[in-house]
Amino acid sequence: AVVSAPLKDKALFEIGAAVTVAHLKEPDFANTFKTNFNQLSAEYEMKMKQIWTSATTYSFDGPDYLVNFAAQNSMKVHGHTLLWYKSFPDWFINAAYDSLNFENNVKAYIQTVVGRYKGKIRSWDVANEIFADDGSLRIDASVYKTFKDPIGFYERCFQYARDTDPDAKLFYNDYDQVLNSAKRSSLKKMVERFRKEGYPIDGIGDQFHTTVWTDKATINIGLTDLASTGLLIHISELDIRVNQNKSDSYVFTDAEQQKQANMYKAIVEMYEALPQAQKFAITVWGITDKYSWLLSWWSPKEYPLLFNGDYSKKKAYEGFLSGL
Ligand code: XIL
Repeated sequence: AVVSAPLKDKALFEIGAAVTVAHLKEPDFANTFKTNFNQLSAEYEMKMKQIWTSATTYSFDGPDYLVNFAAQNSMKVHGHTLLWYKSFPDWFINAAYDSLNFENNVKAYIQTVVGRYKGKIRSWDVANEIFADDGSLRIDASVYKTFKDPIGFYERCFQYARDTDPDAKLFYNDYDQVLNSAKRSSLKKMVERFRKEGYPIDGIGDQFHTTVWTDKATINIGLTDLASTGLLIHISELDIRVNQNKSDSYVFTDAEQQKQANMYKAIVEMYEALPQAQKFAITVWGITDKYSWLLSWWSPKEYPLLFNGDYSKKKAYEGFLSGL
């Protein structure tokens, strides 16, 4: 078999993958991760619901394990994610604080978590998915109803993170900013406001959960436009779906594998074309097709990642590599 270079050795930016503690305890998983990647995102364990177990208790076992694993293997860590409407713990939401109380609690959370990993977590998604698909704020999420000016709340949250670890790069993360111009223009307005009012933001993460049937030209236009902000750009949760109809009889043929490889290559090439100083990392949302979140969220016949279930490299891997 052809032995191709590890992705991390060829790239001039970090190559990340999302992992869980449980998966890292599988030796083949851990080895594949260490060999090919040099940045870690937590798929699960660094979300608020997992960490903030009650008003007076935090659970850091999972995040500590991940941060130690990364340190032992000379990897960077990307913290995902401080604020996400889907991940506020029930005990917190149910307490129904007023906005001042709400913010003071969130502030304490940010200070506790960012402070614990100061110098160990290089970058944070401070907020994830605050915009709906039409570009409006997700005020439907109960917590945001408490703020007259939610963007002001986010500005202050970025500031709390900055004050706690001045060296950490602070990102706003969302899906489809590249493809959805309404969402993108709301994001760009937010960035302008941060700048005008003097609040910190270093980068934008676009999740890039994408598909082989997505139009490449549209991706390129959106990516270039995102980069026009001058901020760091993180492809933060890349995976590429192949089973368009979610069909149970879908077969991942050679031709389908090649289509996916071409898409990986095209996306990596578009990222490579960005200004060097704005390239930060490309992170894939998992390692092996046998554990992708898309198996439950999209279809059990889905093959979105770079490695097969037996950890052999897919054509997708070669596509990614050849785009670097
Ligand atoms: C997903 C994980 O992959 C799942 O294992 C978990 O149950 C739910 O969250 N956008 C994000 C990620 O920002 O945090 C999500 O990850 C996928 C969509």
